[in-house]
Amino acid sequence: MEKIKLAIVGCGGMGGRHLLGLQELAQSGMSNVALAAVCDLRRDNAERLADNAASLLGERPLVCDDVAHMVKMRPDLQAVAVATDAGSHHIVACQAFELGLHVLCEKPLGISMRACNLILAAQARAGKALSVAENYRRDPMARLTKALLAAGVIGQPEVMFDLSASGGANILILPWRHYKQMGGMVIDGGVHNADLMLYYLGAVADVFARTRLWESVRYRGARSGVADFYQAWHHEIPAAITATSEDLFVAVVQFKSGAVGNWTQFYAAHGKGFGQKVIYGQRGSLVCGGIRNGSPPVLTLDSGTEITGDGLLDLVPDYHLDEIGERLFGSARPASFTLSFPACDRKLLAIEYHEFGRCVLTGTALEVDGLIGRQALAICYAGLESGVLNRPVSVDDVEQERTTIYEADINAYWKI
Ligand SMILES: NC(=O)c1ccc[n+]([C@@H]2O[C@H](COP(=O)([O-])OP(=O)(O)OC[C@H]3O[C@@H](n4cnc5c(N)ncnc54)[C@H](O)[C@@H]3O)[C@@H](O)[C@H]2O)c1
Repeated sequence: MEKIKLAIVGCGGMGGRHLLGLQELAQSGMSNVALAAVCDLRRDNAERLADNAASLLGERPLVCDDVAHMVKMRPDLQAVAVATDAGSHHIVACQAFELGLHVLCEKPLGISMRACNLILAAQARAGKALSVAENYRRDPMARLTKALLAAGVIGQPEVMFDLSASGGANILILPWRHYKQMGGMVIDGGVHNADLMLYYLGAVADVFARTRLWESVRYRGARSGVADFYQAWHHEIPAAITATSEDLFVAVVQFKSGAVGNWTQFYAAHGKGFGQKVIYGQRGSLVCGGIRNGSPPVLTLDSGTEITGDGLLDLVPDYHLDEIGERLFGSARPASFTLSFPACDRKLLAIEYHEFGRCVLTGTALEVDGLIGRQALAICYAGLESGVLNRPVSVDDVEQERTTIYEADINAYWKI
């Protein structure tokens, strides 16, 4: 199979996970992406990823610390995956487009609406593909949730509860996730929630939120991040940091369909963690399927009947993973599955890469393009803007940069 030549730019925790996704894709027998180079401002990070690539993929990619130099060294390069921290996506993506490359960009698409709009303008000038690496909706349990909603099993959706609480005063993964100019947890985590809202219930008209920063001093925990993905950098994390971005976000989301969302993300919760995503409709409720844990949606009807797992499949004759999903998850119509978080994580990344490779090779459409990536981020920023303006904020106004009070500092920091 023909393979596009791609470089990973940003060789930290997520860069490592991208490599595992590429290994998973290679093992599927359907690989259409070859890792030609890795690039990071920190050469040690790039060298580490290249070493891992040599053992996982059988070939050591070129190592660089500068994108322009990388393209000079590998003029056959067609694409980059941008896995740098969220603040620098616009710098790397715009440069990549100027150099004539296609871009797969980690979420959030940019650090602000201005950053997203710079990326979209650079893409339009270059005429190249832009995919946002939004992995959650690609989970088979998200696909099954969406299929159940589309089949009308709960009737017209009326309200979605998307609530989570965890984190205490720990540094969550790495310090940059607590700095406003780098996006903060409400953006870094919340953009996934916003993408799932878009996927399940469609476009959002406005968001009204209260936001707070409760834990302004955060401390290094015994471990950092999920699985072992970030352990190599744990010793670099300071014992304590001063956080500047909100860790509480309590929002009312008005969907254009008329449905209303009750969305809370609390990243400073002490005690018992909590998380729930449930949609209520005219005829029943649907607990959304788990992400990267294989737990199936749970449908409860007015009669009290509860249906989950295999019992759901009769309700969704059209539910069917695509060929790569079926290959990786071992079934065209999984109703649940048992996989570790890392195993599921790399399969979702493999699916993401496969879709991107196919788009570059054959021009097929991308599921999460730049406009959808921008919209998901705009939902988060509408809430953050609302938190300072004390009124509902229109998502369209945020996307078009008509409301930028909260984002002004971020744009000033990045000089955009
Ligand atoms: N989809 C998911 O589930 C998921 C999970 C974690 C992280 N992410 C996203 O992945 C991205 C990276 O996050 P991370 O946790 O790996 O961060 P990280 O800090 O571990 O790694 C970022 C790397 O990018 C490098 N870098 C920074 N600016 C650069 C530049 N201009 N050019 C080249 N290299 C540069 C840093 O040196 C570092 O090695 C973020 O956008 C984050 O939101 C996504």
